Amino acid sequence: MFNLTDFSQRLAGRDFIALADYSPEELVYLLDLADWLKDMQKRGKPHRLLEGKTLGLIFQKSSTRTRVSFEAGMVQLGGYPMFLSANDLQMGRGEPIRDTARVLSRYVDGVMIRTFNHDDVLELAQYADIPVINGLTDDLHPCQVMADLMTIREHRGQNLKGMKMTYVGDGNNMAHSLMIGGAKMGMDVVIASPSGYQPSPRYTQMAKRIADVTGGSVTITDDIGSAAREADVLYADVWASMGQEEEAAARMAALKDFQVNKALLQLAAKDVIVMHCLPAHRGEEITEEVLEGAYSVVFDQAENRMHAQKAVLAGVM
Ligand code: CP
Ligand code: NVA
Repeated sequence: MFNLTDFSQRLAGRDFIALADYSPEELVYLLDLADWLKDMQKRGKPHRLLEGKTLGLIFQKSSTRTRVSFEAGMVQLGGYPMFLSANDLQMGRGEPIRDTARVLSRYVDGVMIRTFNHDDVLELAQYADIPVINGLTDDLHPCQVMADLMTIREHRGQNLKGMKMTYVGDGNNMAHSLMIGGAKMGMDVVIASPSGYQPSPRYTQMAKRIADVTGGSVTITDDIGSAAREADVLYADVWASMGQEEEAAARMAALKDFQVNKALLQLAAKDVIVMHCLPAHRGEEITEEVLEGAYSVVFDQAENRMHAQKAVLAGVM
């Protein structure tokens, strides 16, 4: 069995809100655990590490992958997932987050939340005495990036140090978490975005400081050609995230040249992998041909959401 003892004490009871809160060693441990859990599941071997535990899942935004992968993963771990639509909770009628946190802490063993304002997750965590997991905020999407790192390791080898990962498009929650996760792994992360849509200075500085320690690098540019050149990973995400629906037309105009397409792919490394967290808008941030093409690993990424999150759940709960 996978050695669960080394890190279990360091991880137990922790929140999983930002990759920046975890050391590279802890993240690698979780990725190794995710590989082991995936292998166990594929071989039909029981791995009920969370027998009898309950996970609350609060959603203030839509979801396919996050909801289903957390629910299925929790069942496979022997636990019970409880879907809590924010609209149906008293939270949706204005009950304070701090009260919700203290009440849920008395019923369940962990809570995942997907919401808009990142500070709401921090407040939930401050008042909850159970682990809080970030299932996406306007700022960050750490669970997605755990699945992404797992997928890159599967396709390009375990050592991510020195790999060039280029994200093309809006400097959003995915860009922020990729910069931080990539920097933790010592990767060379490049974010290609037009002016006005570049990642927030706060997360850029954070990622750069991490890269200084790990030997990676973080570059923000509007030169999409140099960004894509010899890239080992080309990553796309939507131009208008959840909550930005009204800005969609303006964003489409501003980001139209920041598309992952065949011309861009030709600049990348010969064995580049193309990634997208999904859902994708074909013909906008990525072409149909590239999304469905031979270099695309997007459905491996989607699958790995479940395995990576099972590792996080097993680690913190
Ligand atoms: N990638 C991702 O988080 O997908 P969902 O919005 O479907 O959960
Ligand atoms: N940036 C996207 C990611 C969806 C998984 C959003 O926030 O809507």
